[in-house]
Amino acid sequence: MKLPLLIPLALIRSGASLLTPLQSSRQKPGSRSIVLTSSSGAMDQATASEINGSAERTQVDDEEESGVSEIRPIHQNWWPVSTTFALDKSRPNPVDLLNQKLVVFWSESENEWKCLDDRCSHRFAPLSEGRVIDNNCLQCAYHGWEFNGEGKCTKVPQAARGAVGRSVTGYPVRVEASMVFVWADPDSFDTLGKSTTIPIFPKLKEAVEVQGESFCFMRDLPYGYELLGENLLDLSHLPFSHHGVGNLDRELGCPLPFRVLPASEKSKDNPLYEVILEDAANTDPTYKGFPVPVPPDASLNLGFYDPCHVRYTRQRVPGDENTASVVALYMCPTLMNKSRVFLFNIFPKRPPPPKKTKLQRLKSWVTPSEIKQKLAMYALARLFTPVFGHLMSHKIFDGDGIFLHKQGDRMARSGLSYKDYDTPSSADVMVNKFRRYSNAASQNARLLGLEQLAESVSPSSGYNDNLPRSEMLDRYESHTKHCKICLEALEKAQLKKKRLELVQTALIGAAGASSVTLAGGLGLSLLRTLRVPSILLKGAAGVTLSCVGGCKLTSKLKAKVEKEIQQFLFEDYIHADKH
Ligand code: FES
Ligand SMILES: [Fe+2]
Repeated sequence: MKLPLLIPLALIRSGASLLTPLQSSRQKPGSRSIVLTSSSGAMDQATASEINGSAERTQVDDEEESGVSEIRPIHQNWWPVSTTFALDKSRPNPVDLLNQKLVVFWSESENEWKCLDDRCSHRFAPLSEGRVIDNNCLQCAYHGWEFNGEGKCTKVPQAARGAVGRSVTGYPVRVEASMVFVWADPDSFDTLGKSTTIPIFPKLKEAVEVQGESFCFMRDLPYGYELLGENLLDLSHLPFSHHGVGNLDRELGCPLPFRVLPASEKSKDNPLYEVILEDAANTDPTYKGFPVPVPPDASLNLGFYDPCHVRYTRQRVPGDENTASVVALYMCPTLMNKSRVFLFNIFPKRPPPPKKTKLQRLKSWVTPSEIKQKLAMYALARLFTPVFGHLMSHKIFDGDGIFLHKQGDRMARSGLSYKDYDTPSSADVMVNKFRRYSNAASQNARLLGLEQLAESVSPSSGYNDNLPRSEMLDRYESHTKHCKICLEALEKAQLKKKRLELVQTALIGAAGASSVTLAGGLGLSLLRTLRVPSILLKGAAGVTLSCVGGCKLTSKLKAKVEKEIQQFLFEDYIHADKH
């Protein structure tokens, strides 16, 4: 049995640091030293390459660590591999985790999800191609070997006297907030996994209970955990990468004075790293883009909970939980250069409306302002459907999908690491912290000889600059096929399209028939062979015109439906076109 490896980071410090730009007097030629002051008065020194014409510049200290005492190897963690909503209880579900192929299936008899290596021990066919039998076993599709939820081989149909084959690895599973978490190192489960908590918080649990298991938006992304994590912890990219989505706008970009919180000030559930944004009402692009004024003391906390959770908590009234809106994100390193994200948008609780008598309710319906308000609420409810929410989330993840993949390519082809980043402002403080964490976790897996696992979170290759955009932003493969809500909407739209095509074909046929009748009638009249009643000619002309008009209308409707369909398949995202 492998023992959990806990390796302290080389440089561990605690205490909040407020990053301020101060130029050191000890300056090297061609470069300049930057001094970082901490709130305790201690000074850290870092060197940054010179920027011509730059008046002020802070360098995020790449050695400073806060609140970290030990980093587990990347696989000794609970990782979310899927939502329960995306899984099918009637069959095996393939999932990827840390470059490994796993299979998740529902054990009816034990009333829980099970996870095994997706590789039969006989001749290595994928068990996910098999089926669930006897309510708690997986049967391999190739020669029918059977495995229970713990991975034990229970039957080899070809073996005499009930002999069985080797087991496959079984992984511990927990379901939290509608996500299926897998402990990726079964050997360390008893010593470590059992006591390791999954970073789920009460507000999220409550929201999932109210909204149901479809509340989470899950999508596969064309870049790895290492790039996903730094992207999710990077507030400064929002106004630029997601310009035009909601109220985000490039104009909202500004300095982001983050302050790293010391252990004594961190949230109760103890994130590995946490920052608050100073003067959030005037610096947070999301607050600044709010359609209604934000109180001047509104706050924003950003936390990273290792290994997989990022949380933005915005509180309009400090101390009042009910005014908090939370963006909770979870990450899964699936394969090399690929990842899976889970998004929950939790809005502040609305105070319950005051109780009214029947008469008051009736009266309130008849005032024009109440009617207007009710109609507006109705229109909003029609617009903000779960499908709408998913399509908005796609827009967000499309916004950085392509350039993040290409960032991976640029880094790999030039042998660059996060240590080569130029991060002169405190906006990147969490990016550097996350990268140091993931690098340490990956290194610690390498020390155990688990190169393949380590590589999945710190790849040195595998990004491909020529990957078609339609593949990088493939909404169907990355989301729709797993999402019952979007699949249903897609099928409805496809059916609508088929019906429109039928109508169009009928109209074209009718237009053809009526125009032939019209031409024939006119011809005969002109030749004076037969006197065709004018009413018949007018009728044929009318039908032809109506059919042509109908065809035009159905073409327009079809184009609209095709656009609707496309939203579930692929939409390109070109920043230069987003004005
Ligand atoms: S490969 Fe699975 S039973 Fe043969
Ligand atoms: Fe969806």
